Amino acid sequence: MAGSGRLALGTLPWPGWVRGSGPAVLSRLRDAAVVRPGFLSAAEEETLSRELEPELRRRRYEYDHWDAAIHGFRETEKSRWSEASRAILQRVQAAAFSPGQTLLSSVHVLDLEPRGYIKPHVDSIKFCGATIAGLSLLSPSVMRLVHTQEPGEWLELLLEPGSLYILRGSARYDFSHEILRDEESFFGERRVPRGRRISVICRSLPEGMESGEPGQPPPAC
Ligand code: OGA
Ligand code: MN
Repeated sequence: MAGSGRLALGTLPWPGWVRGSGPAVLSRLRDAAVVRPGFLSAAEEETLSRELEPELRRRRYEYDHWDAAIHGFRETEKSRWSEASRAILQRVQAAAFSPGQTLLSSVHVLDLEPRGYIKPHVDSIKFCGATIAGLSLLSPSVMRLVHTQEPGEWLELLLEPGSLYILRGSARYDFSHEILRDEESFFGERRVPRGRRISVICRSLPEGMESGEPGQPPPAC
């Protein structure tokens, strides 16, 4: 019957910003793929975008060759932040990471133009630990997670401006993640038109790299 699948999911106490291929995967990833809409206040969004804009504007959008993971983007690795932004990043750390986790020293800032998108990938386990936490600014977008061994298992995360997403454990290691391009940007049946989107991504260091490791991880993790 048309819509019965959605009705079945709709009866579960599931938040409106995570959809999945079925109740089992939703329940299994309940703590591993998390979206917190409205994590940032309007003032905090403004603080971050004002601080980032001049640094991003100096760079050009890149349109890499066909096998690159990210298209139509510019990015920076930022380690010096204003006090107001540091307070926001502290909140992200407290919300997403456990006290025992060390974060990469710089934060990854990714600016996707309206046609920009991120193809499915798993962040390199050489350079990133178990947890990835991202703030979204400016435009809503849809992040899709697909199990690398069982492509029938998937989740969709609706990332509104001001939201925080957290990928950890199985969601980070066993599923690819991607940001859908404008033409494919749907959350279920709901069209999510893409504009320019900035993400601010904090990652944990891989286990065993907490101290004394020579060299910095490369920008694209
Ligand atoms: C990445 C990535 C997601 C985002 O840069 O590896 O997956 O929210 N980014 O921009
Ligand atoms: Mn990634």
